[in-house]
Amino acid sequence: MRIHRLLSTIMALTGLAWATAAAAASSIFLLDTDELTYATVFEVDQSTGRLTTLGSLPLPTDVTLGLAASDDRLYAVTQSGEVLQITPRPFRVVSIGNIGANAIVGLAFSDGLLYATDEATDQLYVIQLTPVSLTIVGEVRLGSTGGPVLDIDGGDLALDAAGSWYLWTNGTEDAYLLDVTNAVAVQLDPATAGLGAKSGLTFDHQGDGGLVASSWRLDALLTLDPATGATVASVNFWLAWPAAYDAHYGDLASARSASPPRATPTSTPTATSTPPPATPTPSFTGVPLTNRLTASTAVARGRKLYQTYCAYCHEAGSAGFVRQTAPRESIHAIRKAIAEVPQMRFFRGFFTRRELRDLVRCLRSVSRGLGEP
Ligand code: HEC
Repeated sequence: MRIHRLLSTIMALTGLAWATAAAAASSIFLLDTDELTYATVFEVDQSTGRLTTLGSLPLPTDVTLGLAASDDRLYAVTQSGEVLQITPRPFRVVSIGNIGANAIVGLAFSDGLLYATDEATDQLYVIQLTPVSLTIVGEVRLGSTGGPVLDIDGGDLALDAAGSWYLWTNGTEDAYLLDVTNAVAVQLDPATAGLGAKSGLTFDHQGDGGLVASSWRLDALLTLDPATGATVASVNFWLAWPAAYDAHYGDLASARSASPPRATPTSTPTATSTPPPATPTPSFTGVPLTNRLTASTAVARGRKLYQTYCAYCHEAGSAGFVRQTAPRESIHAIRKAIAEVPQMRFFRGFFTRRELRDLVRCLRSVSRGLGEP
């Protein structure tokens, strides 16, 4: 894998939902963003992977977006909490309200409501649209409401035609069935796990009803087996054939026409905000990261963390240099390194999830400056 590819992955999509009204010609949409320089909405031809650009979202700082779809509209939620309503043709974006700072990664529309998973809190939310307000269903737990908390790390939510909810998380790189009334998840197929990271997940409601996912690692639209979550087919995304489109994050949503059953949330907080990151205590001083991008505040925070804690060993020219900027693209990978690399063990339990996420964003943004080797 090229460094560029390694660095440029992660999860940018926090919420794109498609609300369906009039039947669209194609029903799958992709929101892709590097959270710094672009956030583009595409229509995806599910059989060829061909992308058609519909338009771009305005880029405030701190863009993290998920996508959901109703019959005739898409919805996206930014990290700072703006709930964006998107009309695909002609392309128009309006903010219909704000739910507060969040780390929403999964987003799907059903019966006038948005359902969202948040990787900072591992919670399931229901977002009402008129007026915009947020309800916390609860932490996503395995097996029962008293079960262990499922680690939400990227991924997405999707609803099938029969009204079953599917959840993907890259914490386990696996699919789950989700009860949205109590946030209880059950592993889709206990015999499979570690099926590869996905950023978007949706059912192709107006096509064959199949389960599809987006992968930034493969720059591809994947068809998954709805019984196991395993990949059964793959096509590259492309804008200008034959070059594959380089996806950075990429949430999926699909228009649907039937309304599935509505969930009844049990608790009622109306706003949420991510807890402030712990104050880090510098342990060594690294050389400044040779990075040029500061547009996003999340990236800026991550950069600070990186300079304080990582550059010492991962930036060429630093005293403790072992190898080039940790070229990994997920919270999971950093956690894994912390668990397994002896020199990094003292970071155990040190970083909050928010900090890990910011670090990941920083690493990804660096890749944009490195270019292809
Ligand atoms: C004290 C030195 C040190 C510090 C500080 C350090 N690392 Fe590492 N890191 C290492 C070593 C050594 C390896 C293993 C390198 C190898 O296997 O070639 C490693 C590996 C990794 C890997 C796995 C890389 C791979 O290619 O497998 C990741 C990811 C990573 N570090 C991220 C970080 C992040 C993020 C920070 C800052 C929070 C950090 N590291 C701070 C020494 C350090």
